[in-house]
Formats: sequence, structure tokens, C-alpha cells
Amino acid sequence: MKQILLIFLVVASVAIAQDKDWWETANFYQIYPRSFKDSDGDGVGDLKGIISKLPYLKELGVTATWLSPILKSPQVDFGYDIQDFFNVDEIFGTNADLALMFSEAEKLGIKIIMDFVPNHTSDKHEWFIKSVERDPEYINYYVWHDGKPNPEGGRNLPPNNWQAVFATRAWTWNEKRGQYYLHQFAAGQPDLNFRNPKVVQAMKDVLSHWMTMGAAGFRIDAINHLFEVEDFRDEPLTGWTNDTNNYGYTHHYYTKDLDETYNMISEWRTLINKFNEDNPGNTRVLFTEAYANLTFTMKYYFDEAGKPRAHFPFNFLLIENLNENSSANEFKTKIDEWFAALPAGATSNWVLGNHDKPRFGSRYGTERIDGMLMLLLLLPGVAVTYNGDEIGMLDYRYGISWEDTVDPQACNTNDPVNFVWASRDPVRTPFQWDATENAGFSTANETWLPVNDNYRSLNLAAQREDEDSFFKYYQRLSTLRTNKVFQNGDFKSHAFNDKVFSFQRTYQNETYVVLINFGSAPYTVKVNDMGVNFPEKAEVVVGGSRSCNKAGDILDSNAITLKAYNAIVIMANSASAAVSSLIILIAGFLINRFFN
Ligand code: GLC
Ligand code: MG
Repeated sequence: MKQILLIFLVVASVAIAQDKDWWETANFYQIYPRSFKDSDGDGVGDLKGIISKLPYLKELGVTATWLSPILKSPQVDFGYDIQDFFNVDEIFGTNADLALMFSEAEKLGIKIIMDFVPNHTSDKHEWFIKSVERDPEYINYYVWHDGKPNPEGGRNLPPNNWQAVFATRAWTWNEKRGQYYLHQFAAGQPDLNFRNPKVVQAMKDVLSHWMTMGAAGFRIDAINHLFEVEDFRDEPLTGWTNDTNNYGYTHHYYTKDLDETYNMISEWRTLINKFNEDNPGNTRVLFTEAYANLTFTMKYYFDEAGKPRAHFPFNFLLIENLNENSSANEFKTKIDEWFAALPAGATSNWVLGNHDKPRFGSRYGTERIDGMLMLLLLLPGVAVTYNGDEIGMLDYRYGISWEDTVDPQACNTNDPVNFVWASRDPVRTPFQWDATENAGFSTANETWLPVNDNYRSLNLAAQREDEDSFFKYYQRLSTLRTNKVFQNGDFKSHAFNDKVFSFQRTYQNETYVVLINFGSAPYTVKVNDMGVNFPEKAEVVVGGSRSCNKAGDILDSNAITLKAYNAIVIMANSASAAVSSLIILIAGFLINRFFN
């Protein structure tokens, strides 16, 4: 029965989304494997744990999951320091477990995206060890430098004034080789030298290998750090701090966003296109991670000749440029700016959080979770959800002591007081499945990071029982996003007042309107003020988790009162409206009935 239902749902959603390729409207879900589900009781999540939770992803309406790195690693940066690009780390399981994950996910119609970390390897990688030994094959695999003569005698000084992201100088002396090596992150993450064609080829082999194994694509890590200027000149000082270890000490004009970076993406795209041609099936995709301005971000889409590079670069607007204090007009301006900058034919995307940034529920406040989830799931293009955000998990910002802190970005501050805001640990705490010990994440006595102590009330099991929970609300939105209007529709935004932001999606004469009150004061809107032609009767399609409006409610579109932080989706009341809410209701019922 379950299988038949799944096939039905898959066929139905494919039928609805026929005009676009799978990834263009995909609902991506980022899993941070260390914290998702621990199957063997060692306190760290693993692949078997993830496999056991794949049906949960299906319940969420997730199309594809991106896994943070699971390959062999000393875990200096929790997997982002890779020691072996071809084997799974024992802590997560085995290559056989990964193969099983690919096949189990495929049965459910879920695609697996791997994290591709090209900028650096672990210092335990055999390439680095051989490079240290000046093995001729590997001698130029990394960025080595003699340093500057020390006027006071003794060992040379670092070559220049560059910093690493993790609060140290970017150069570490290697005694054995008698040279400095460059690292833009931890000292245990030496930067690869992408001006060496052997490195370029070796990393292409990594991509080919994992596509052959079944990966549906790659999230490309820290891409704008790939190249540095060849003459190693000093970066200009910012004047913000005197701390030469602080990443804010210099501007990173010569170590970030260099043109060669975009060319490398073009080469990877060529490789992937070729693979897609030779292996028809689901399109394999590339998406890039770069914290960069709009101009640099857009360069990841196409080259000057219009040839595609990444399928999309992460859009960090909702993380970096808007916050709990932003006015409705700022939301409108920023979102409109994004669309204006988007090249023709490019696919947009929306992200609220990830394993590096404070959780959006903590940044925007729990009262704005409804509205933000509507932006994530109903704006045009791809959505990417960070695991736990769908149930409103929050940062455990002051719950993790200095002694329990493990994130290198925090530890390197050597500051037991001010590490708190440098730390990424608070956003990486274990997933809160239920109210049992360790939130149902693990049977271990101790988990690798403490569980947020709000888990007894904030957990998935509790939200399953509550029709107004974030989980149920997320499900309704992710079902709604499969509707053709949200998959293909035009977009237009409007700010009603300082706090009420809205947008419309229109397709083939059908219009949906999303109304979000980001403020604490109630406000009454006349829908047609946003330049739509709405009939008097508006039907609620989805009401926020804190909304008093429920699907099916009929409202007077001349006067819709949005209470504090209320968020609703409405459509013109017609027969098709009724059918569409009915489908959402039935799908929700079936999913809950068969997956609980
Ligand atoms: C990316 C990752 C982050 C990691 C860094 C270095 O920004 O998301 O977690 O520390 O790259 O690999
Ligand atoms: Mg484990």
C-alpha cells in the first residue's frame, strides 16, 4: 500500500512539474550527518541513521538531500578536512552503507547530493604527506612559500599579512619541508594549488567517481577561496581591528572571488554535462557556496558567452542581508534586487540557514518562522532547508560551554568569553526527534555536542500530534509548492506598510497571494492594493502555524486582518481553488496516515 501510495505521489508530482527539470523547483534538504541520527550509539550521527530517516524526508516533501561531508577525515573541521576522497569515514559507516543509502533513497524518489570540498584537503591526506616529502609527483599540489627573511634572524617570517577564516594567520610553517603552506581555513586544511593541472585532474576524478556511484550532484564548498594572486602581495588593511589573526584585519581582494574560480566551475560544468549526456537519467547538478556580493554571486550562473556554469549559486540574501528588524520594504527591495540581477534563464534559490550560520528561528525570532518558511518554500525557484529548521529548532547559543566547544572557528579565538558568537556548534546540535533521552538522536551516554535542552517540548514527535505545529505547516507549504502556479508562476512583491510584506504568484490566470505580517501589530489589508485583480471572496489555502485562519476559510479580500506575525496564503475562491485545497488536505492526510 505504502509503495503504491508513493508511486502515486511521485507520478502526481512529476505530472504537475512536467515543464521543468527536477532541480529547478526542487525542495533540497541539508543533512548535517554528525547530528541527524546515530544508529550505533557512539554519540555521532551516521549513514545508517540517515537511511532509517529517509521516509521522514519523503514526508517533508523533500526532493533531494545534500549531505555535509561523510568522507574519511580527521574531523578537524568536522569532515571539511578530507583525507580520502573515495572512502566513507568509519565514524559514518562504510562505502557499502553509502551505496545502500543511494539505492534506498532512489526507491523513495529522493536524490543524494554530495558535498565537494575542492579548496583544501586534510593535512593527513597522502597528497599532502607526499608534498611535504617533495615527492616530484606531488611537490606542487599545495601552495608553498619560503616566507620572508626575518630581520632579527632565525626562521623566515610568513610571506605576507593574510589571515585564515578561522582566526589565525593563513600560513603555517612545515618543519620537514622547511616552507610555509597556505590554508584559508584551519591549519589542518592545506589549500590545494589549482594552478597545477594535476590537481585539477585529480579533483575532476573525484566528481566523476561519485556521479558513477549515484550522486545526483554536488554542493561545492567554499568556492570563492579557490585561487589567490600569484605574487602573494599583502592585502589592504581594513582598520577594523589590530589583531593580525582576525579575518577582519584585511580586505580579501587577493585571496577571494578571483576570475580563475569561475573558469574552474565552467570546466566542472563541462564535465558534468558530458556525464549527463553519457548517462541519461536525472540531471546531475552543481551548486556553489560563496559568501559574496550580488555581482560576484551572479557570475556563477553563466560565463560571458552565456555558457552555463553552476546550476545555481546559493542565494544568502535571507541569511546575510535581511533580519528581524528589516522592514517590509527592505524585504521587497532586496528580493526584487535579486530577481533584477538574475540572468535570463537562471534558476533562483532560497536558503534560510545552514551548519555555519545561526539558525533562522533564532535570527528572526520564533514568531517570524511562519513568514520566513513561506518565503523559503513559495518564492520562485529552488528551496534549501537546513535539517531541524522545519520543526523550528533554535540555536543552543549559551548552552554549550567553552569546555564543550569543538568548532575550530570558536576554539581558535582562544577566548573563553567571546567565543560564543564565533561558534558554529550552537547550530549543529543533534536533531530533536522526540522527548526521550538525547531527543531520540542517540543511545550514547554523551553525544558529540550537547542536545538543546528545549528538546522535551520542541521535537518532531510532539509536532506530529499538533495540527498547528511547524512540522505540519511545513508539510502544507511543501505540498503547495508542487502546485503549477508555484512551480512556474510569475512573481510580484508588495509592502503594505512597514511590516506587512506580500507577494503574488500568477500562472495561466490563476493567482495566489502570500501575506506575511512580520510585525507585532495587527494590520488590515485590501488585497487589490497590491495590484492584483482579486474577487471579493478569497479562500485561505494555508494558514500559518500561529494563524487563526485555516485552509478553506473564506475571507473578504477588501479587508483581511493579519494578526501579529500572521502569515497566510490565499487564492481567488473558485472551483479550482476548492480542488487545490482538497488535494493538499488529502495528500496531508495520506502522508500522515501511512508514514506514522
Ligand atoms: C564551508 C563550509 C564550512 C567549512 C568551510 C571550510 O564554508 O560550509 O563548514 O568550515 O567551508 O571547508
Ligand atoms: Mg554513530
